[in-house]
Amino acid sequence: MDIAVLGTGMAGRTLSGALADLGHEVAVGTRDVEHLQQTNTDFAHWQQQHTAVRVLPFADAAAHGLLVFNVTAGAASLAALEQAGADNLAGKVLVDVGNPLDFSSGMPPALTVANTDSLGEQIQRALPETKVVKALNTVNAGVMVAPAKVAGGDHDLFVCGNDNAAKTFVTSSLQEWFGWQRFVDLGDISAARAMEMYLPLWLRLMNAVGTPMFSVKVVR
Ligand SMILES: NC(=O)c1ccc[n+]([C@@H]2O[C@H](COP(=O)([O-])OP(=O)(O)OC[C@H]3O[C@@H](n4cnc5c(N)ncnc54)[C@H](OP(=O)(O)O)[C@@H]3O)[C@@H](O)[C@H]2O)c1
Repeated sequence: MDIAVLGTGMAGRTLSGALADLGHEVAVGTRDVEHLQQTNTDFAHWQQQHTAVRVLPFADAAAHGLLVFNVTAGAASLAALEQAGADNLAGKVLVDVGNPLDFSSGMPPALTVANTDSLGEQIQRALPETKVVKALNTVNAGVMVAPAKVAGGDHDLFVCGNDNAAKTFVTSSLQEWFGWQRFVDLGDISAARAMEMYLPLWLRLMNAVGTPMFSVKVVR
């Protein structure tokens, strides 16, 4: 499948690399390809090991993808998606992995939006022709693409979004591609508030358990 991964950080690189390894035609999106390649040594090193992944400006990457992942810094996601272009995203499923973290006052980060709104909802409002599915934002990048590394995969991934068919497409793809077995559908895109407000707890949990390679399992 032609897939766009908008974002060149740890999560974008992890998702792109794993999807390309599965044989997908992956384009990674960034603000400025030349600037990225010349200034970001982590990315340059990663690119040498993932030559099948194309690196394109946000708009060209978005145009390439039939499925699009938003893996940009949450505080900048609306700006990044504006650069990607609503026309290039219209009619497509966009998996929003972003967390609206504000590091301006140091650690732990605050949220730039919460309680009565969320990044997921802001993106859905900005892109009314796009089917936004919030997913994968509640786990570390390593867990996103290899859930079996935590408890053999016996844990839950939260998803939400307004379009049920889009959610089914995303969960079945994550199952087929990465082996995710368990999903909890929290409802429409307003559930992104809860999924994003989980981040302060996620950060405390990481400190408490001593690793980012953890997840949660909902038991009844
Ligand atoms: N890292 C994880 O394990 C993890 C797990 C769950 C969720 N997430 C979420 O995934 C997202 C990406 O996280 P990350 O750690 O991989 O990287 P990040 O450092 O949070 O984000 C890097 C990306 O954001 C873009 N960006 C930054 N400022 C921008 C601006 N002003 N305008 C447009 N784009 C801008 C960068 O563009 P350039 O390419 O142009 O530099 C880059 O592609 C975040 O929202 C994060 O909360 C991450």
